[in-house]
Amino acid sequence: MQYDLIIRHAQLHRHQNPVDIAIKDGRFARITASLPDNTADREIDAAGRLITPPFINAHVHLDAVLTVGQPRYNASGTLLEGIQIWSERKPTLTHEDVKRRALEEIRWEVAQGTLHIRSHVDICDPNLTALRALLEVREEVRDICDLQLVAFPQDGILSFPNGHELMRRAMEMGCGLVGGIPHYEWTRDMGVEDVHYAFALAKEFNRDIDCHCDETDDPHSRFTEVMATDTLQQGWQGRVTASHCTAMHSYDNAYAFKLIGLLARAQVNVIANPFDNAVLQGRFDTYPKRRGITRVKELLAAGVNVALGHDSIMDPWFPLGRGDMLAAAQLAIFLCHMSGYEEINDILDLITTRAARTLRITDHYGIEEDKPASFVLLDAPSAFEALRLLPARLHVFKDGREIAHTTPAHSFLHRQNEQEAQEVTYRP
Ligand code: FE2
Repeated sequence: MQYDLIIRHAQLHRHQNPVDIAIKDGRFARITASLPDNTADREIDAAGRLITPPFINAHVHLDAVLTVGQPRYNASGTLLEGIQIWSERKPTLTHEDVKRRALEEIRWEVAQGTLHIRSHVDICDPNLTALRALLEVREEVRDICDLQLVAFPQDGILSFPNGHELMRRAMEMGCGLVGGIPHYEWTRDMGVEDVHYAFALAKEFNRDIDCHCDETDDPHSRFTEVMATDTLQQGWQGRVTASHCTAMHSYDNAYAFKLIGLLARAQVNVIANPFDNAVLQGRFDTYPKRRGITRVKELLAAGVNVALGHDSIMDPWFPLGRGDMLAAAQLAIFLCHMSGYEEINDILDLITTRAARTLRITDHYGIEEDKPASFVLLDAPSAFEALRLLPARLHVFKDGREIAHTTPAHSFLHRQNEQEAQEVTYRP
């Protein structure tokens, strides 16, 4: 058999030995210990390096990316000042402005191996400027990236004028998922109604749900339980995601235990966002300061599916970052106390296979025979080393086509008594 491409000696996550991977007509054709008698138009010797399915950014705001400093920098670094700055920037949004920034950020993510992105889009704008722009972007990037769009009511469904109508219009225009923001509505009752409305809309349009939920340090913010209950009552199991859930960090253990059981029963996915959670939560604390990330370790132990998002990239809430999901995963290791050896291996799943379950793309995702040949070859031999080094993404393929490559950086040391510079590899 003549293949289009063979990757030799590639290390799959959690596999004992490297494998040879043959690709034909955009799909994985053979994955086996060795393919010595086969040839291909192109061969890549992975030399034992790690090959993974594409990374997934399960939660980001592409309408706000790359706006840091516009019209001013966030001086306090807080969530509330971030929302204020965004409300100042929003009136100046234009179609071309949103498209240019989103397309640029997607280029960054794809170059680093992220080929699936779920972006929230702020629909609290009578003109829906950002949504119109991102609906076009979704089509324009199809050759390099699958983009899911969530109608996100940043200023509330009930607390913002015509919030209900704007959510509905977003669905009619082709927005893929229904969002919500119950903890930000003016009252507890309005927050509960926010969730109920998201479910009603999702049922009417047959869409999945991904709400920002309980993104606060307030231990009395308890809307995730409403999402789980609506999921069970509406029969939407597996189709619902609760994003952030940072208040869970501050719940007493007895309530958290009850809630986590309910989430598992309702098959609600949870998304944590290490960068934004780390800088935005705990801001009202003196000392000790809470970490403010949801209970990732306990959720996983209870059988709840958890994924990670980058959330912000150079916007009013998080000024840094370049859209690297491996960096988000590395930060989760620290914030979630998941530095045990197996825990570090598990973290890679939160930006790959577990995120694929959240986005409901598992039927065409993963390095398995007959599935689309989309993958990342990293300049590291294992997940452990990948999360330590954040190495170059040497080759990024989508549907059998190379769509990005990176040449790794090399460091050299110049000693006084040595004629030739010595390379520093950062490997023990
Ligand atoms: Fe968010």
